[in-house]
Amino acid sequence: MTDHPSIVYIRLLQKCNARCVMCTSYQQSRDEAHLDYVKSLIDEFEGLGVNEVRFTGGETLMYRQLRPLLAFIADKRMAFSFITNGAYLKKFSQELVDAHVGKIICSIDSPRPEIHNRVRQTQRLLETASAGIKTINQKSAQGPHAVQFMVNTVVSSENYDHLRDFLPFLHEHGIKYWNLIPIHGELPIRMGPPQIDAAIREIEHILGRIERENLGLSLNISDPMDFFATAVRGAKPAELTGGLQRCHVVSHVAFIDAVNGKLTGCNDLMYSGFDEMIVGDILGKPFRQVWDAPAFRQTRDGFSCQALHRCDRCEPTNIKLNKHLENVGADSNAGTLPAWF
Ligand SMILES: C[S@@+](CC[C@H](N)C(=O)[O-])C[C@H]1O[C@@H](n2cnc3c(N)ncnc32)[C@H](O)[C@@H]1O
Ligand code: SF4
Ligand code: SF4
Repeated sequence: MTDHPSIVYIRLLQKCNARCVMCTSYQQSRDEAHLDYVKSLIDEFEGLGVNEVRFTGGETLMYRQLRPLLAFIADKRMAFSFITNGAYLKKFSQELVDAHVGKIICSIDSPRPEIHNRVRQTQRLLETASAGIKTINQKSAQGPHAVQFMVNTVVSSENYDHLRDFLPFLHEHGIKYWNLIPIHGELPIRMGPPQIDAAIREIEHILGRIERENLGLSLNISDPMDFFATAVRGAKPAELTGGLQRCHVVSHVAFIDAVNGKLTGCNDLMYSGFDEMIVGDILGKPFRQVWDAPAFRQTRDGFSCQALHRCDRCEPTNIKLNKHLENVGADSNAGTLPAWF
């Protein structure tokens, strides 16, 4: 067991400018995390030696206190990252660069504007996000801290047939890390078996090209057959992690919803129905007091032995992270996050 997580996700808000077909975040609370609470967490994480804080939402760049938050993190030693739909990247490009944000994870669901903008139900979002990525790449190339971009793509009935068309887009935007996420939820854009088979063929093609053409691109999937295995085929992570006995992610990743005051180990667990893994009412409390409370420690430890046989929504990135953590020695906190995470 580790003393503290390696990476902490902090949800800043649920509000969003977009209206994505697969997401209900924008319909939920209009509340935002209190900046003082977020700052106190960051100070505590710095003291503990947490490697990275990753902000999520809602749309992170709509956080009303974004500018003071960026000014606050600028001098910290820890790494910071933002998950964003890209709408406001250009607007905050200078502040993001000046704050030495290490990584920005931008969601792109198709390189074709008509599809991306339809899925996200937002006019010209692809064009705006693309311009924002290019602006930040340009600005950060002139300074000492290059911002690394990663792309998240939710694979759905809208894009499964042209995943390979992302390759020129990723190349044009200097993106080296690409996360494919199987769509979850009973949604109008979910996929049927023939579409899943076609998506798997696309992923095989892409993995082949990455190797043959030496594209310098890293995917969150090593075996295309793993991709829909937990989300759609009902496979348990144990079948995909090559004999691991324990899930290491629950002690290396923490997810704090700073809007509604809930904490869990593993970013995939907040809505998975394992309520024993969620601690409520954490707002204003020191992280350590909640994470290290004997009852939560024990639950986390017990769950880590069962998770690989119980979880049914373990995303490919966490399947790959688990294998990585096993290889590097999962009980150590130091240097355990791979560049592609
Ligand atoms: C909830 S969003 C928050 C950050 C930001 N608004 C964005 O879209 O990137 C975090 C990630 O969840 C993904 N996501 C949203 N709905 C999903 C779904 N139904 N299935 C899988 N991933 C989903 C988004 O595409 C995004 O990459
Ligand atoms: S942009 Fe992100 S938070 Fe907003 S609706 Fe889409 S997936 Fe949800
Ligand atoms: S098995 Fe997957 S979803 Fe379950 S706790 Fe571990 S990483 Fe999270």
